[in-house]
Amino acid sequence: SKEARLVVVSNRVGPLSDEGKAGGLAVGLADALRRRGGLWFGWSGETSEAGTDSQAKTETEGEVKLVTIDMTEDQVAGFYLGYANRSLWPLLHYRLDLARFERETDRTYRAVNREFARRLMEFVSEDDLVWVHDYHFFYLGEELRRLGFKGRLGFFLHIPFSPPEMLAALPGANDLVGAMLAYDLVGFQTMTDRRNFANYCKHELHGQKQPNDRVRVGDRVIEAKVFPIGIDAESFAEFAASEEAEEHAAMLRSNVGRSLPIVGVDRLDYSKGIIERLLGFERLLENYPERVGTVQFLQVAPLSRSEVEEYVDLRGEFEGLVGRINGRFAALDWTPVHIMTTGLTRRALAGIYRAARVCMVTPLRDGMNLVAKEFVAAQDEADPGVLILSRFAGARSELGEALIVNPFATDEMAAALERALTMPLEERQRRWRAMRDKVFANTAAEWCRKFIEALEDAGREDGDRP
Ligand code: G6P
Repeated sequence: SKEARLVVVSNRVGPLSDEGKAGGLAVGLADALRRRGGLWFGWSGETSEAGTDSQAKTETEGEVKLVTIDMTEDQVAGFYLGYANRSLWPLLHYRLDLARFERETDRTYRAVNREFARRLMEFVSEDDLVWVHDYHFFYLGEELRRLGFKGRLGFFLHIPFSPPEMLAALPGANDLVGAMLAYDLVGFQTMTDRRNFANYCKHELHGQKQPNDRVRVGDRVIEAKVFPIGIDAESFAEFAASEEAEEHAAMLRSNVGRSLPIVGVDRLDYSKGIIERLLGFERLLENYPERVGTVQFLQVAPLSRSEVEEYVDLRGEFEGLVGRINGRFAALDWTPVHIMTTGLTRRALAGIYRAARVCMVTPLRDGMNLVAKEFVAAQDEADPGVLILSRFAGARSELGEALIVNPFATDEMAAALERALTMPLEERQRRWRAMRDKVFANTAAEWCRKFIEALEDAGREDGDRP
């Protein structure tokens, strides 16, 4: 039978090229779509008076059609800046202390989901597989069903799903989780996220867990499964060997001089544990004074969501802390911390990863974290760097050979850094090879293939496959 067309919906659309990608969603999806082809629908990233009623903009790149619509400024304020990024993002990253709840942004969020569903109906047919992505569109599937869409409908959450006791603080949480039941298949990054969802259904929606990864609420039965996202490891390894990468690796090396380079690469986001990581580095210089003058920390932190207050606060805290550490330890010929808030190309990043002796990926909570996987893919077998990885990153369940840390434990981070800096080549190679095998096996393309296969099968009784 003919392969069904894939229709992907996400807030950010594209680019399909390798540059300008902010965040794991764009990285994973672009690769998957480039391979299979299909339609990618979402926000243009622009505002206009017509907003979601604006004329759709269409672009074609190879086998992929990109279709986007605008939002009004009010829609962006309520849907994106307000509800998605000040209510859902902190809450789903276990930060109830940072979450803000407002009736108005909730209303706008639901309205924008309804509008995107209505506009999407112009472009889909029932033979398509519709795959909705991330926390911007929890209600989109329910709205599509309301408009009469009968085809296969899947949802994947790229970020964590917090425990029911925490999620229950969200006004309207039952509506939000209830709306997820409109999908035939919901996918999560880790077992923990999936379990939190199933527990929410059980304890708050009076549902039941059923065999074969199914969850029942009332008479609705859906599948909830784990699909850890990956990267296009082959291409990333090629990037790391490119000329642009080599230039950046050389720049980093000449910049650090005799020091060993330690790097961190993250959108400037409070979920990433950047502050905690810097405190760990500062503690290294305190606890191991012979390290002063022999290591340099580079944090690449492209600014993100700068219109949201909590991100402005974080930037101030980040710059303040870097200033303090440098003020405390710098010498005439040595600066301990170097930061960059401008973006780098993916080839340049790959070069920096390759030149790094240590990479710190220390989120306080993260859906997956693809920096960890990119760092692994970029290493050279002859002299691989060491990955320090937070136990709270989704990637931790696959990359157990990293040095696993609790980012809240500052002394533990300092000790992990010291261990990474002194790790013998053989041990570095052994750990790296084990991680490399997994990063190259569970790629973005595999992730996509598995999700689509499960979506095609969802709802069918076992043994009832065509
Ligand atoms: C995370 C989210 C994505 C989001 C990205 C960048 O990776 O899972 O959905 O696109 O961050 O954030 P932004 O708000 O700029 O889209």
